[in-house]
Amino acid sequence: MITDEVYEKLKREINPTHDIKLFAGRSNPKLAQEVAEALGTTLGPMIVKDFADGEIYVQVKDSVRGDDIFIIQPLCKPVNQNLMELLIIIDAFKRASAKSITAVIPYYGYARQDRKTSGREAITAKLVADLLTTAGCNRVLAMDLHTGQIQGFFNILVDHIFATSILVNYIRTLNLDTDNLVAVSPDTGGVQRTRHFSKDLGCSLAIIDKRRDKHNEAIANCVIGDVKGKNCVMFDDIIDTAGSIAGAANLLKQEGAKDIYVCAVHPVFSGPAIQRLIDAPIKEVIVTNTIPLDTENLPSKIKQLSVAGLLGQAISRIHDDESISSLFGFEKKMTV
Ligand code: R5P
Repeated sequence: MITDEVYEKLKREINPTHDIKLFAGRSNPKLAQEVAEALGTTLGPMIVKDFADGEIYVQVKDSVRGDDIFIIQPLCKPVNQNLMELLIIIDAFKRASAKSITAVIPYYGYARQDRKTSGREAITAKLVADLLTTAGCNRVLAMDLHTGQIQGFFNILVDHIFATSILVNYIRTLNLDTDNLVAVSPDTGGVQRTRHFSKDLGCSLAIIDKRRDKHNEAIANCVIGDVKGKNCVMFDDIIDTAGSIAGAANLLKQEGAKDIYVCAVHPVFSGPAIQRLIDAPIKEVIVTNTIPLDTENLPSKIKQLSVAGLLGQAISRIHDDESISSLFGFEKKMTV
């Protein structure tokens, strides 16, 4: 009789690449479920729970010896807890003799602390990279990192993918006249990503000169580019308190812009964000589900699109040793 154990061994000998082994922490269970469905698989069994004092307990329920593991865990709120949970999950797989561990981090928390802007500051994005590596992670799959240079903070492999095509495709469905459309970067740091966005949409580009004099407070100073009488699509990686986007939208209106749309990948939505988006002169805000939102109570002007299919494709390609960059026409985009 062929026992389950013998069957698994035979299967591995016939197909040495194994099946995709997908697991998830607790930071975005809905996205993890959708990714599993996109891959035609289910999430692997694992216990993740809290002790009374807040410490986290993890146990992988099945043998993963010799397996290639993918763990989905965006580092969204509560960011420190979700980060610690990911580290403990990685440690559990390492000690269970997994062959490789890929952390799928659709939203990389602490990404904005990627350099020292004044003396005696931490570079926390690098610290997070070190923590993941020390825990036993072999590869990271990240989406729309705040800056591409964060890839270089790792001494392990990083695959960096982009949700731009999902957002661009949605804007295309609105059938806006591209001759009368401007893609707007809400700050100078986002110019490169907005330039790709404007190229994909086939429209012109404008830039907001943004200042931050105080912690977590953004001031939109002036618009560089022509927005008068034009529809505008602002594109950002993160909406956190929505100060940048709301300030920029008000400024665009003052400068005579027509309808204003906002596309952003990561809806961090802290504190006053949703109210600011409601109050701002914005027609529609389109974000993705790298971070979970309470969709039942979202105002109708905020739309959330799924990145599950894209993550699924990337995971499948990593697993099968296929190109990731060709999935995004990345080589073409970088020739600017
Ligand atoms: C900053 O450089 C980022 O790209 C975002 O523009 C920023 O994090 C948004 O923050 P907030 O929504 O709080 O203005």
